[in-house]
Order: sequence, then structure tokens, then C-alpha cells
Amino acid sequence: MTRTDDIVWAARVLREGGLIAFPTETVYGLGAHALMPEAVGAIFTAKGRPQDNPLIIHIGRREDVYRVARDVPGHALRLMDAFWPGPLSIVLPRGRDVPDVVTAGRDTVAVRMPDHAVALRLLQLAGVPVAAPSANRSGRPSPTTREAVLEDLGDRIDGVLEGGAARVGLESTVVDCTGLVPVVLRHGGVSLEELRLVVPGTRLATMLELASGRSPGIQHAHYRPRARVRLVFPGSAVLVRGATVGDATVGDAAGGGAMGGSVPDGCAWIGLSEPPDAGSAEREGRAHYTQWAKKAVLPDVESYARRVFAFFRECDREGLTDIYCQAVPREGLGAALMDRLERASGAGTLPGT
Ligand code: TXA
Ligand code: MG
Repeated sequence: MTRTDDIVWAARVLREGGLIAFPTETVYGLGAHALMPEAVGAIFTAKGRPQDNPLIIHIGRREDVYRVARDVPGHALRLMDAFWPGPLSIVLPRGRDVPDVVTAGRDTVAVRMPDHAVALRLLQLAGVPVAAPSANRSGRPSPTTREAVLEDLGDRIDGVLEGGAARVGLESTVVDCTGLVPVVLRHGGVSLEELRLVVPGTRLATMLELASGRSPGIQHAHYRPRARVRLVFPGSAVLVRGATVGDATVGDAAGGGAMGGSVPDGCAWIGLSEPPDAGSAEREGRAHYTQWAKKAVLPDVESYARRVFAFFRECDREGLTDIYCQAVPREGLGAALMDRLERASGAGTLPGT
């Protein structure tokens, strides 16, 4: 494994069938030559990824879309104009040269042009389409720094390029453009509201469509740190290890409320406001401080999104047991953040996958 800034070298390794992790604006990706089945197969082995979950192909020039897609419908072109390079993956009819291992045998393929100078340079120099999932061990939080890639995959890949901390911090939006209107299969860096400004008919996939496997990634456990992730909704009780802490309730979304009980060791908090016990009151005649072992209070949803996966990993490194995540409104990037938090907490995924 090589840590490097040598993009020319990395591009050659990719062309020859090796595995290179690289920065994008969303998260770091683990790339392989998309038209070489063995190279793509090595991604699944390195990540421990289920074979039935297809990969996104990354391109460095817009016109390269025709190397991997059979057809690009008009609404897809409009979305590409508006959001490429950027955090939008577009599902299109699959081109002839794309091997089954990339698409998990589907007749569609997801394509994206990332908005990161290092990624674009790498893709342009490699001159081949590059299949790249997030560069984490399957199921773990996505990597937003090079260190996170090294932690998960350091001994399993040929190299990792430096590109700083990811600007968005959550993965791309996946939108299926093979039908009459674009259908969002995964929330991500481009919001539904933004998509609708360009193609007003864009809709979310229905539960039925998701259940029938239209968005294969949804069926697998994802984004999970070792610590338990617990979502805190405004007004909900804060449950600690199955029991309500004292008379603990979280106040309004903005302010947080009083938490009467104590937070046990090893609990972390991340959200847009202070945790509910901040500055907790005297009890039984003495000041009773309930310390959170670790805390991140972010100024807005964008910063929360950028921070959350790195926070999860830090909590694991510090051996913490529980991470309380404050819920946010499901609008704009908040929809993607809530999706990741819910999935990290284990909601809606198959156990044991
Ligand atoms: O931001 C991102 O998208 C990052 C960076 C590295 O580009 N990549 C990423 O890849 O998140 P991955 O493999 O972790 O997620 C790919 C998602 C999965 O939910 C998968 O099911 C979906 O894209 N996908 C890929 N091909 C598809 C297809 N043909 N039809 C439907 N969904 C597809
Ligand atoms: Mg992933």
C-alpha cells in the first residue's frame, strides 16, 4: 500500500487493474478499472462487499458517459448539465462493455462525474471508466479522510491519494433515469428539492419499489460504527441502555431540555444543539454533572453531514459504546443525513448482513 500524491502513478495502477482509493467531494472511493472484471472483483474482496450490490462508475469527462451507457435520456442530460461534476449518480441503460460484476447483473448502470480536482485528474489520466464504491469495509461508516481509508483498507489496496477532508461528507444522490421521470433511489449530496428545480417531475422511489430491489444498496446494513447509534428526536425520551435516564426528555429541537439522570460512561453526542444535560442541575444537595464522553455541536446541517462519519470512527477508536445523534428536519441535505443516521442505528436493514 502506498500513500501518495502521485496521480500519474495511481492512474497507471488503475489502468493495469490495481485498486486505488481516491478523494471525491462526497466520500473517498475505492476505484478499479470498470471494464476489467477481475479488477472490479478485487473491490468486492477488499471491502467484503455483498456481490449483489452494484457499483457506481466514475468518469472524468462528461462524454465518457457514452462508453458505459447505451442511451442517455433527455431528463438525464438536463440533470448532468445542472449537477455534474457533482454528487449525483445517474442510473442509465447499461452499455455493452460494462461487465456483470459492476452492475450485479442488472441491465442498468450508475454513473457519476465527481467534483474534486484530484478525482477528475486521476480519471482523466487513467482514461478508463472507474468503478468505485465508498472506500470502507462493507457496513462501516464511509471514509471522509485518507486516514479512515487506511484504517479500513490499508493492507488491502495498492494506494490511496490524498485529497483532504471530503467537502460534502455523505455519498452522492442516486437517481434512476431509465423511466419516464427521474426516481431518487438514495438521498445524497443533491437534494430532491434541487433536482425538482431542474426536472420538476422527479420523485422519490416508493417503499414498494425499494422493497422489490430497485435500490439494491438499501437492503444491506450500512454506515455502522461499532458503538450503538441512537437517534434523538425532539420531545423523545433519551433511552440509555434500554432505560430512560431519570426524567430525561429532550426539549425542543433547537434548545434541548433538562436531563435529570446521569449519562453513563462512554456516551457521545452529535447534533445541532447542546446535549440535554448540559450544565445539569444540583441533585441531593450536590452538583451532579453528567458528562458526555465526547460531544460535537455543529452550526448547521451541512457541517453535521460533513462531520458525522468521522465522528463515528473517532468514537470507535476511543472505545465509546453509544452515540446519540440529534435528528434534523428531512429537507435539503437533512434527508440524506437522516437516512444515514437511521441506517447506522440499524433501522430498516436486514440484521446480520
Ligand atoms: O458518493 C458516492 O456515491 C460514493 C463515491 C465514492 O462516489 N460512492 C458510493 O458507492 O457511495 P457505494 O457503492 O457505497 O454506493 C453505491 C449505491 C448503492 O446504493 C447501490 O445500490 C447503488 O449505488 N447503485 C449502483 N448501481 C446501481 C444500479 N444499476 N441501479 C440501482 N442502484 C445502483
Ligand atoms: Mg458505501
